[in-house]
Amino acid sequence: KKDILDIDSLSREEIAYVLDTARGMKEISQRAVKKVPTLRGKTIVLFFQEPSTRTKLSFELAGKRLSADTVAISKSSSSIVKGETLRDTVRTLESMKPDIIVMRHSSSGAAYQVAKWVKCSVINAGDGTHAHPSQALLDMMTIQEEKGSFEGLKVSIVGDISHSRVARSNIIGLSRMGAKVTLCAPGTMIPVGIEQMGCTVARDMDACVAGADVVMMLRIQKERQGSQLFPSEREYAALYGLNQARLDLVAKDALIMHPGPLNRGVEISSLVADGEQSVILDQVTNGVALRMALFYLVSGGNKNADSN
Ligand code: CP
Repeated sequence: KKDILDIDSLSREEIAYVLDTARGMKEISQRAVKKVPTLRGKTIVLFFQEPSTRTKLSFELAGKRLSADTVAISKSSSSIVKGETLRDTVRTLESMKPDIIVMRHSSSGAAYQVAKWVKCSVINAGDGTHAHPSQALLDMMTIQEEKGSFEGLKVSIVGDISHSRVARSNIIGLSRMGAKVTLCAPGTMIPVGIEQMGCTVARDMDACVAGADVVMMLRIQKERQGSQLFPSEREYAALYGLNQARLDLVAKDALIMHPGPLNRGVEISSLVADGEQSVILDQVTNGVALRMALFYLVSGGNKNADSN
């Protein structure tokens, strides 16, 4: 693969390969010396035009653990604030001969556009409401670690589906691997026709979480909601928040997930987020290994996959 832009373009076999590779990479992250020379001499540019803690830092650590040189550029510290276009910016970056550009952008489809403009590899670290492939893959890695297989697994995704690139990538990836995905959200936060992506929509939140093997809670994306949040945070917490009372309905061996960052007390209570069933910090840990696997893959590490 030259680029990782979405989950759609990864076959079931390719997803399985990435997850296998990430398991091997995780072993490196657990050593006393967390570094191997695999990508020595490679340069990775982290180009984030939206805020990020987990994704940016884990891509950076992933590069460093594979001995690549990583450099970061943000929107606020770049010449974009002086009016330089995205095309001129990425062509400027490419002139400095990076091997991989990891990019986050507020516009859906921006990563596709950049991948057409540059010859180096592009990894999409989140574009608008469209896709967040590395997040979905690290979520799948975490589920596979805990549950073994995806076949027939019931995954409930609850929250602001309309604005969630994490939900879209997980619906596609988990369905492709054999899981059954159910979505639950207020009508204002779920796009009409989303069932066409191969998932079902549940209206009853309690029933949706009660039958699940995995409950994935999503952040209410206030920055993308406009001026008035409907329902309000208080209404949302009461109707769709995962609190202790609702956790009592959930199977004791079900996983509680959240891609972060959390709105504590809105979509998830602190007791649940920090409770025994939560794998939220495992997701973060796996993010580094999974992103090491993606760097390895786009650098020619997959001998079986077609190159694009
Ligand atoms: N999950 C996720 O993308 O988090 P960040 O915005 O902190 O990268």
